[in-house]
Amino acid sequence: MGSDFVDLGVSFFDEDFTLDPFPYLEELYGREEVLGFEADGMKFVFRFDQARQIIRSRVCRRELPEGARIAEREKIYATRYPNRAAFFAHNYTTRPNGPDFTLKKLMMDFLDETAHVADFSGARPVYERLAIKGQEDEYVEAISTLPLRVMLSACGLPFSERELLQLQGAGLDFLKALDNVGDESLLKACDDAVVRVFGYLDERLGEAEPDARVQQLIRKGQGLGIGEETLRYNIAGNLIIALANTAGISSAFVLRTLIRNPEIRRELARQPDLVRNDHVVTELLRRDNHVKALLRYVHEDFDIGPFTLERGEPIYLFFPGLNMDPSLYPEPCAIDLDRKFSGANTLVFGGSAHICIGRKLGIEFVKKMVEGFLEHLPDEVWLEEANTEADGSWVAERIIKKLDVEFE
Ligand code: HEM
Repeated sequence: MGSDFVDLGVSFFDEDFTLDPFPYLEELYGREEVLGFEADGMKFVFRFDQARQIIRSRVCRRELPEGARIAEREKIYATRYPNRAAFFAHNYTTRPNGPDFTLKKLMMDFLDETAHVADFSGARPVYERLAIKGQEDEYVEAISTLPLRVMLSACGLPFSERELLQLQGAGLDFLKALDNVGDESLLKACDDAVVRVFGYLDERLGEAEPDARVQQLIRKGQGLGIGEETLRYNIAGNLIIALANTAGISSAFVLRTLIRNPEIRRELARQPDLVRNDHVVTELLRRDNHVKALLRYVHEDFDIGPFTLERGEPIYLFFPGLNMDPSLYPEPCAIDLDRKFSGANTLVFGGSAHICIGRKLGIEFVKKMVEGFLEHLPDEVWLEEANTEADGSWVAERIIKKLDVEFE
């Protein structure tokens, strides 16, 4: 049987789908003849087991298959957008010959260690605003630069407020183009974003103290035989760009979930130890987070049960679908504070070769934000859901732009 993708019935970029995709998928989960959905010319798998097979497979990879139509197109883009191309060539996860796990481990250890010494107190004014009775609709904007601020400080990279905003903007411009393979209009902004992040590093890296964590990272990397230029590209991508796009945005989805579920808020307030529990934070992120869809290329024909993915096909993993697969998570939209996660029942942070390098940092950040929310949110709080705004135009990420939080 050939692979079978059905029309989603709505644009993938529709704001309603971005904000709450489950109702669009609910009926599809039970249809065995369906492998995935198709929208805007892209194909998505959305079930946990099938996505897990793709994630674990050696033939479905992030790197482009030689000779595929899309590889030819990337060659043209590389001449038009050379900074973007250089970035992908040096980034440990997108380089053409597959991930460099030595570099991945180096970056992962660096993020984990830095997360443990990071000072998250800068979050306080942000969630304190949630305690001011009335209306708060600036949360997303207020939180956006916080992860970068916290981590640049923790790793000893100097920055001004202006640079912080520029880096944040560059991070968003870069990621908006990620995996949006059909839209060349985004690539120029992505190329410029790489230049801006490098301009910052050229100017500021040398100002970091010799014992700053970022300098220690570079020395450690060089000791492993990794060149300074490659290390810079990975600091640009896996520290700066990744931080602009992940934990802050996810915390907005977690805030939405907590406001929508007052009984969960009360339970967590009664048992604050639960918030320090990685499983509970993972459950909140399972219900909703910033990750939308990420791409794999099929390098050889690949069977998933009765379906075959054909060589050369680009296939997207639709993470909100996997995270709410009812065959694994009964009542997928509800929060279960007793759920325990293992490699067998979660892909919230992905798995195998591309497992998230910021997992511990993301969990740590969200824990801090949830503690702040519980401390500051009044009991009578709700969302004016009709006023929630999302930017659906991304493929890789789910972005809430505005949450209208109302208080009694
Ligand atoms: C806050 C919650 C977060 C969630 C739910 C999350 C989720 C994910 C997922 C599902 C993947 C796998 C992508 C794939 O299979 O293609 C991933 C990869 C990645 N994440 Fe995260 N992430 C989070 C936070 C972070 C943070 C804080 C950082 C960095 C500072 C980060 C950096 C990355 C990077 C660089 C990758 C690519 C890994 C690779 O391909 O080797 N993430 N993340």
